[in-house]
Amino acid sequence: GKKEEAAPAAAAASAPPPPPPAKVYVIGTDAAYAPFESQNEKGEIVGFSMDILSAVAAKGGFEIKFVNTPWEGIFNSLQQGDRDALISSITITEERKQTMDFSAPYFDAEQLIAVKETSKVAKFADLKKLKVGVQTGTTGDEVVSKLLGKTNTNVKRFESTPLALKELQSGGVDAVVADNGVVIHYVANNPADKFKTVADKTSFAPEQYGIAVKKGNTELLEKINKGLADIKADGSYDQVFAKYFGA
Ligand code: ARG
Repeated sequence: GKKEEAAPAAAAASAPPPPPPAKVYVIGTDAAYAPFESQNEKGEIVGFSMDILSAVAAKGGFEIKFVNTPWEGIFNSLQQGDRDALISSITITEERKQTMDFSAPYFDAEQLIAVKETSKVAKFADLKKLKVGVQTGTTGDEVVSKLLGKTNTNVKRFESTPLALKELQSGGVDAVVADNGVVIHYVANNPADKFKTVADKTSFAPEQYGIAVKKGNTELLEKINKGLADIKADGSYDQVFAKYFGA
């Protein structure tokens, strides 16, 4: 009869709803910073940072997706909630710690000078009277602004580090100051530019990269820190490191 027919429908209605799709954390990165973060020919975001965070996510059982985010607006995108985290060779600084939270450090860096092979620049102080290219708002910008003066028009600020290096090639600037890993990678891969690097240990403070989350997002920060500790302990961090920088 009709009553018996209604029973299956009622059972279906009370069946538990399907689980919600797993959260995919959106990770912002300025993918113009090889070998840490860049885009390959297919437009995929690749690099040391991606391999590290992917290993962290795999360990922690959470899902991530990288989204190319210009450096200019990267911290704002985190503030606005458009990105859940940032991995972009971001140096952990006291100032940045006021507005965002950082993971444990995952990479050591320092500033390095790029000049033409023929340049007489031998130390950071030699840049004082020269035109110096930096990426706007980076730690490179900070140190150069300090040496030359923040409003000195000889400080040439660019949206990306590759643009600054292009200007060095064309002679618009006499030097570029940026993170050592990126400068070394660029100089090694562009021999036709005839650049060399000039290190100056005494002028540049040690820097450490951290993964940034919105202030107070301890849930994600703890997952990231746990994963970082795990991949350091199980050798996968070392494997990724060796892939990009040698053993
Ligand atoms: N480590 C430097 C800083 O935090 C430069 C980072 C630039 N990163 C990038 N993907 N463009 O200021």
